[in-house]
Amino acid sequence: MNRIGEILTFLKKGGEYVSGDYMADQMKISRTAIWKYIKQLEGLGYKIDKVKGRGYHLRAIPDRLFPWEIEPHLETSFVGRDAVYRDAVESTNSLAYGLALKNAADGTVVVTETQRAGRGRLKRLWFSPYAKNLYVSIILRPQLHPSRIYPLTFMSSLAVFDTLEALGIQPQLKWPNDVLVKGRKICGTLTELSVEADAVQFVVIGIGFNVNMKKIELADEIRSTATSLLMETKKAFERARVCGMLLTNMEKYYRLVCDEGTEQICRIWENRAGIKGKTLEVVQIDRTYRGVSEGVDHDGGLLLAIDGGITKIIAGDVSV
Ligand code: BTN
Repeated sequence: MNRIGEILTFLKKGGEYVSGDYMADQMKISRTAIWKYIKQLEGLGYKIDKVKGRGYHLRAIPDRLFPWEIEPHLETSFVGRDAVYRDAVESTNSLAYGLALKNAADGTVVVTETQRAGRGRLKRLWFSPYAKNLYVSIILRPQLHPSRIYPLTFMSSLAVFDTLEALGIQPQLKWPNDVLVKGRKICGTLTELSVEADAVQFVVIGIGFNVNMKKIELADEIRSTATSLLMETKKAFERARVCGMLLTNMEKYYRLVCDEGTEQICRIWENRAGIKGKTLEVVQIDRTYRGVSEGVDHDGGLLLAIDGGITKIIAGDVSV
């Protein structure tokens, strides 16, 4: 934890007022240094009362995804331990990709409040209003053959699935990587990778998770198809906490993939999605498949029973 995070820990658990002398003593820095950090926190939107002879009192915390606000909610050993925060970016995936090329560590995350050019699948834009949702990218360096990378998208949807369940919301999974609530999309995942000499160098998993967006704030094109935690529950959520839970679940599933390979994650995804035996329609650019789902194979491909044979689908939009 950095110095700002340490000061906040004192202020958050310190009761009414925490003296500057006490913090300086505990942190082994000068009172002037404490004062400078307090000024810095105020500049970031924290409201801090100062009373001579008593010290500092934290009155209000800004709704921002500063790494030190996420950190207390992390139960991970490496995912999210290195975090890059920006008030605004073009796309967290693009920034993370650049950092990964410069050797950012396994588990590094990029978090922002808004994206000017957030990217979705199929070259769509990802709607990214300021300080409402989660826009997060995670750099991972799995030892997997490029052909086995597909199930990693299951990993992120399962992490979102578990996060939603823990928050008391019943999610649904849609192949390949959407998470829905009551048929509306609450989260999307965009996985990009760098491959060299037939080995995966790194993967960037970008997650857009709608948290506190209101219906009225939705872009017209997604008004009838998207939802958020707030829309589902009529309650606002602490985004830093949701982010910490999400990253914790990500590490849990990533460890499973690293330890057990991709087969198990595919079975877990298949069970949670409950798609076996359902009649599905899969639309691709040039054709449509219709058949009964036999689940997913170990590569994450969707298996459909069509005309007495099994067809493996690796891309497309699914409807039930
Ligand atoms: C989809 O189309 O369903 C995937 C959407 C992925 C959006 C996220 S938001 C964070 C990360 N940065 C991006 O530019 N895209 C992903």
